[in-house]
Amino acid sequence: MAKPTLEAAASEFDLWADAGRAESMAEGHGGVTRAAIDRWTLGASDTVLDVGCGNGWAVRELMRRGAGKGIGVDLSPKMVALAEVQTPKDLNCSFHVAPAARLPIADGTATHILNIESIYYYPDPATAAQEWARVTATGGRIAVLVDLYEENPATHCWIDALDVDVHLLSKASLADLLHKAGWRDVWTEQVLDPRPVTPRESFSQSKYWPSYETYLEYRQTGALVVHGTR
Ligand SMILES: C[S@@+](CC[C@H](N)C(=O)[O-])C[C@H]1O[C@@H](n2cnc3c(N)ncnc32)[C@H](O)[C@@H]1O
Repeated sequence: MAKPTLEAAASEFDLWADAGRAESMAEGHGGVTRAAIDRWTLGASDTVLDVGCGNGWAVRELMRRGAGKGIGVDLSPKMVALAEVQTPKDLNCSFHVAPAARLPIADGTATHILNIESIYYYPDPATAAQEWARVTATGGRIAVLVDLYEENPATHCWIDALDVDVHLLSKASLADLLHKAGWRDVWTEQVLDPRPVTPRESFSQSKYWPSYETYLEYRQTGALVVHGTR
């Protein structure tokens, strides 16, 4: 498996933004993300940060849940442009083009960090986790969500299906890299997508879902969520 690069990810996700895939990702990742962040109580003094924010849907969701300030960061300029256009101007939000491991954000700014289906595209996930620890206030929370992980074999075909290189991380390696980056009380859970399972007659085979059985296995395994506290 070759190492992911920033250049390849930025141009690939610009293409995804042009192709309308930001909106389908929002739909696809929404259910498990909402289940994961139901554990958070947000208030006006909270600053939420979504790293790898795509079109900014999760920042807007966190603002709807009561956060006082929202920040989204993504490597893809076209994803950030979508986030800016889709976010009402009266929401206290800002969006930035930057790599996850070099955030244009001051120390201790965020109270909550989200990272959805993004970390395995990074050249160095451990350095990103350290950077997130830098920008998070003491007591702040993190939730990292991934569908592509070692214990979810139904998604391993994505490694070849994707047009960019990725890491295949395990539950233990993700928990360990957060722990080593300074996050404490790190724990993992597998969260099932609450949306109805597509019936066999409506299922469309693709390079991501080579068979209906693979899709069912994925739905029964769920997304991995790694939680931690700063
Ligand atoms: C699969 S998409 C998920 C987008 C969004 N989190 C969602 O759930 O809709 C992965 C996102 O991570 C971003 N990304 C990839 N590598 C990145 C990096 N090194 N730093 C910041 N963002 C990155 C991509 O541009 C893309 O928007």
